[in-house]
Amino acid sequence: MASIVQVEGLRKVYEGKQRVVALDGIALGVREGELYGLLGPNGAGKTTAISICTTRVLPTSGAVRIAGIDVVESPALARRLMGIVPQYNTLDRACTIYENIHFHCLYFGFSRTDAKQRTNQLLEQFHLTERADSYPSQLSGGLAQRVQIARAIAHRPKVLFLDEPSAGLDPQSRIAMWDAVRGLREEGITVVLTTHYMEEADELCDRVAIIDHGKILVEDTPATLKGSVGAQKVYCLDLSDRDSPAALVGQLKLVHGVRGVEPTSGGIRVFADNADGLLPEIVRVSNPYGLRDLTMTETSLETVFIRLTGRDLRE
Ligand SMILES: Nc1ncnc2c1ncn2[C@@H]1O[C@H](COP(=O)(O)OP(=O)(O)OP(=O)(O)O)[C@@H](O)[C@H]1O
Ligand SMILES: [Mg+2]
Repeated sequence: MASIVQVEGLRKVYEGKQRVVALDGIALGVREGELYGLLGPNGAGKTTAISICTTRVLPTSGAVRIAGIDVVESPALARRLMGIVPQYNTLDRACTIYENIHFHCLYFGFSRTDAKQRTNQLLEQFHLTERADSYPSQLSGGLAQRVQIARAIAHRPKVLFLDEPSAGLDPQSRIAMWDAVRGLREEGITVVLTTHYMEEADELCDRVAIIDHGKILVEDTPATLKGSVGAQKVYCLDLSDRDSPAALVGQLKLVHGVRGVEPTSGGIRVFADNADGLLPEIVRVSNPYGLRDLTMTETSLETVFIRLTGRDLRE
């Protein structure tokens, strides 16, 4: 199936006092109707990628096509095909919620009657009817985010770009936002979002590209990415002896069910299967090396990132 968003060899170098290679030649393809996530840590290049796709930033080289339309050659045409929710709230503070959506419709060429009808329909769809006359400053972060999404899809774009849609939202608003985004799929809207929350990418996205230092490391379904780790659990050992001893690494590798062992700044990380009796065995082997603490987590997209980069997403 042809990609509705096609990114090829995309490179962005910000020239300034400091030369920053924000995107180092990324390629990706988003399929029609898909919910696609760009997952990466701070400074990975997510906003730069979205900004180029949405015609706000020019690439240094490479190309982006939305439904076959080149965003650099035909920005105005491309913008008709896309909705944009940027990383920061861009609602017009001087206008009501109703007006924010209504003016967007008029800007995109709706007649007054159509704009009114579409605005009312969106307010209803996003459970905002009661807030129609409120101003953006009177809304919680979660509600403001819903208004931004409603406004972004008002002109019926094929693709919606969301940059960090849940940054700063409380857990409840985040789940409401996820539901709103899932609802868009039923309307046939393709969604591309960026996030640095691995649970968000995992829960919400059909496919995920992991981006770091301007490069795409992997792109696949969350299930396949997690499966690629080849282990179900990750044990993080905190050792008082910070120079994690090679002898302990060697011993842990021999424990039944252990798939991989690697030193970290404060101890050792063990990748393992769901083997019986593994936890006490790890504790027994590590105790003589000054085991201070131990945490166990299920394999997640975070694990995938750690495996690929040796770093934590949050570090
Ligand atoms: N206008 C700019 N001028 C110079 N450097 C920039 C500019 N915008 C971004 N950068 C740099 O480019 C790199 C990528 O930034 P970008 O904002 O795309 O990352 P991000 O993944 O969106 O990060 P965050 O999670 O912080 O939003 C960073 O090193 C950033 O400092
Ligand atoms: Mg960003």
